[in-house]
Amino acid sequence: MIKISPSVLASDFSILGAEAKRMGECGADMLHLDVMDGCFVPNISFGAPVIKAIRKCTPILFDVHLMIKDPLFYIDSFAEAGADIITFHVEADSPVSETIDKIISLGKTPSLSVRPSTDISSVYPYLDKVGMVLVMTVEPGFGGQRFMPDMMSKVRALREECKKRKLDIDVEVDGGINPQTAEIAARNGANVFVAGSSVFKSEDASKAIAEIRSATLP
Ligand code: DX5
Ligand code: ZN
Repeated sequence: MIKISPSVLASDFSILGAEAKRMGECGADMLHLDVMDGCFVPNISFGAPVIKAIRKCTPILFDVHLMIKDPLFYIDSFAEAGADIITFHVEADSPVSETIDKIISLGKTPSLSVRPSTDISSVYPYLDKVGMVLVMTVEPGFGGQRFMPDMMSKVRALREECKKRKLDIDVEVDGGINPQTAEIAARNGANVFVAGSSVFKSEDASKAIAEIRSATLP
């Protein structure tokens, strides 16, 4: 199933609650929330208290992308803040299995992500336990970067591996997604599309979401 997940990193932070609510009304399937600690990535965004505050504004599914050094330590607070899917990086310092188990124990969906330089096979040992894998299509840390087509071989390999093992896992792409790049990613096996700039910087977010969605249909 195709899902569109607008990233609030490109939204107007002064009215974040309203921006989150607006996305639900514009046809988004979930809301992508980029958490950055200034350590795992060279940028700082927001944390659990901000997510908790906007949780009151919309019932939309919260797709939380943790770009932080020690995700295990913070899982409780993000679950409590209202995250639904919790993605963390395989390159982070926390033990991967233990972190996945912690997310599951709190009733949330675990998801693993890889940076552009990380081999996709690094997530294979955990595929049985996660609901989603996020393949970064830019270097994590900033919105508005250019989509890296080289990452498509990873998306293809991951989708093949899931098929081989009869696993129905969501494959998410994040970074530089617009209708053109979403079409490429969909053709290679992605089904969840994070879009920051192309949705929030457009004049008509409903139209931008609909265009990404229709570009991904076969
Ligand atoms: C980058 C973030 C992305 C970012 C995408 O580190 O993970 O989610 O917000 O922004 P765009 O769509 O503008 O590339
Ligand atoms: Zn992200």
